[in-house]
Order: sequence, then structure tokens, then C-alpha cells
Amino acid sequence: MIVLGIETSCDETGVAVYDSRAGLRSHCLYSQIRTHAPFGGIVPELASRDHIRKLMPLVQQAMAEAGVSSADLDGLAYTAGPGLVGALLVGATTGVGLGLAWNLPVVPVHHMEAHLLAVLLEPDPPAFPFLALLVSGGHSMLVQVEELGKYRILGETLDDAVGEAFDKGAKLLGLPYPGGPHLARLAAEGHAGRYRFPRPMARDPGLDFSFSGLKTALAVRLRDLERSGPVTDEVRADLANGYQEALVDSLVAKTARAVEVTGLTRVVVAGGVGANQLLRARLRSRLATSGAAVYYPRAEFCTDNAAMVALTGCLRLAAGETATGKNAAAGDRLAVEARARWSLEEL
Ligand code: KG4
Ligand code: ZN
Repeated sequence: MIVLGIETSCDETGVAVYDSRAGLRSHCLYSQIRTHAPFGGIVPELASRDHIRKLMPLVQQAMAEAGVSSADLDGLAYTAGPGLVGALLVGATTGVGLGLAWNLPVVPVHHMEAHLLAVLLEPDPPAFPFLALLVSGGHSMLVQVEELGKYRILGETLDDAVGEAFDKGAKLLGLPYPGGPHLARLAAEGHAGRYRFPRPMARDPGLDFSFSGLKTALAVRLRDLERSGPVTDEVRADLANGYQEALVDSLVAKTARAVEVTGLTRVVVAGGVGANQLLRARLRSRLATSGAAVYYPRAEFCTDNAAMVALTGCLRLAAGETATGKNAAAGDRLAVEARARWSLEEL
């Protein structure tokens, strides 16, 4: 089965072709980072316009690179949410339109489910069930993945996502957008232990996270330091080090607790923050003692991409799903689905 996947939920335009026999055949991505960087964050209207400009050329490119024509495809999949609704609509209407034109089934895909399953694109993927730590710019959650379509959220952030905490911390430290990787690089130059930040929810027995207090703690610390003169690069690096330690420590502690509670022996880390090297190293060493193995999708499949959407659509089609949308009457081939909010547990 060969499926073309489309991703436009945020600021990456992606198209990929996944083949259930041969694996990933092509994977094209256009990042809008340069469009949004001058604004210090994503401007939704600009995101939609950029998706419109780039999507069809990427569809053509992905099909050419995969060496397939529309007649070779068995279906289409598009990200239907959660995400920026205007951005989602570009991928959704394109997917539904191509489905009509090429007479193919169209599967609306949940973006977070696609992140959860991205690890299955790797050569030695984990078997179900597994625990997933899903950490991106919009979400931070621990999910028990029983099988395709069966997900239980064990814990999630009560306020900011961890990627957002990285980005906001980076902004306070004067780093460019998106700040996560910049903050990680600055932190590596800093001294450990010079500035300590709180571990929110550490004593809470549950599996939820909270990150907004940390950002406030960093803002307050910076303001205090600025009172006695300009903050040097060395101090900024030391602050970044302490801040990243607190973020990573919170994620690792709750993940270790989730392993204990569930008894799961496979842990998957997905989403953009999964690219963070300190998080990877700390999780590996912490979970080694509990005997749990840690799996990561390669970095380009941790951040937003269409390969994971094509894969998820393919698995869903292979499992017998032919619906063109959750709210669509059977056979309503014009149904376009774009949902800003959508819980994984509704799947
Ligand atoms: O999954 P993703 O590409 O998009 C969303 O669906 O949100 O995640 C993007 C987030 C951003 O907040 C970015 O700063 C963060 O992932 N990120 C990182 C690193 N690479 C990306 N955060 C910390 N360290 C990194 N190396
Ligand atoms: Zn994402």
C-alpha cells in the first residue's frame, strides 16, 4: 500500500510518500522559520499563506522523488489537527481535493498520533505496548501506547509545553527564535550548579508537568542580576545551563515514575524537544537502572514532518479505515476536517 502524506499544522510544510512494503519512498520539507523569525514567534496568517505557496510544488517533488504517479497511490493522509486552524485547512483542502481528483480514500490524521508513531519509521522499532514521552512546542505528555489507535494520556502539562518553555527562556536570554536548540548550545558553555531553578511538581505524586513557573523564575533572576549591571555572556550561559537542567530533570523524573507505575519496558521519546542531547543522555542513564530501553526517531522525524503522517495514514488504511473525516457521513468525500484542539484519547 502506498500513501501520500501532507503536514501543514504549524510552520513546516511537508509531503512524503510511504510504502508499506518498501518503507519511506520520499520525504520533502519546507521550513518557514525564516518567515517567522523577525516576529519572534509564529504568525498564523503568514503560516497559512506560505503553506499555500509551497504545498503543491512539494506534492510534485515528493511524487517525483518517490517515482510514483497518482495511479500508484492507494490513499492520501493529511494532518487534521491539533494545530493552527488556517494552516491545517490548507493541507486538509488539498488532501481532500486530490482525493476527489484521483479517486482515492483520504485519511485525516491526528498530529500527535503521527508523532507517537514516527519511531516506526526507524529500522529497529519498538513493539507495542510502549510508553511515549511526547515533547514539542505545543505539547508535553506521557502516553501509554497500547496499539494503533489506543492511547491513554498518563500525564500532561498544566500550563506551557516544554518546547514553549525552552523558547520563552531563550527569548529572555536574548537568543533567536526558535530558541530550543540555541538555549541548549548556550547551556553547554555554562557552568553547572551556579544557578539553580525549581523543579515544579517534583513532589506531586502524579505524572503531570508544569513549566510556566520556571520561565517566571528565570525572568526574576535576570531582573535581579541586571540591577547590578549588564549581564555577561558567561552569566547568561550559566543561567541557560541551570534552566535546561531544571526542564530536563522534570521530564526525566516523571518519565521514570511513569515507567515504575506502568511497568512498561520500552520508552519512546518523540516531538521536537526529543532532539535535545541532554534529555537523551539523562533519560538513557536514568532508565538503564529500571531496565527500560529508550527509542528515538531520528532528529528530522522528531520535529514536524510528513513522513510520520504518511506512515500513520498507511497504518490506518491498512487497518480498514476509509472514513474521509470524523464528522463525515460514510462516503461524504467533500468532508474537510481541521481541528485546532483534539485529544488523543478521542481516537
Ligand atoms: O515537534 P516540533 O517540531 O513542533 C511542534 O509540534 O511543536 O517541536 C518544536 C519545539 C520548539 O519549541 C523547539 O524550540 C524545540 O522543539 N526544540 C528543542 C530542540 N530542538 C527543537 N528544544 C530543546 N533542545 C533542542 N535541541
Ligand atoms: Zn509537532
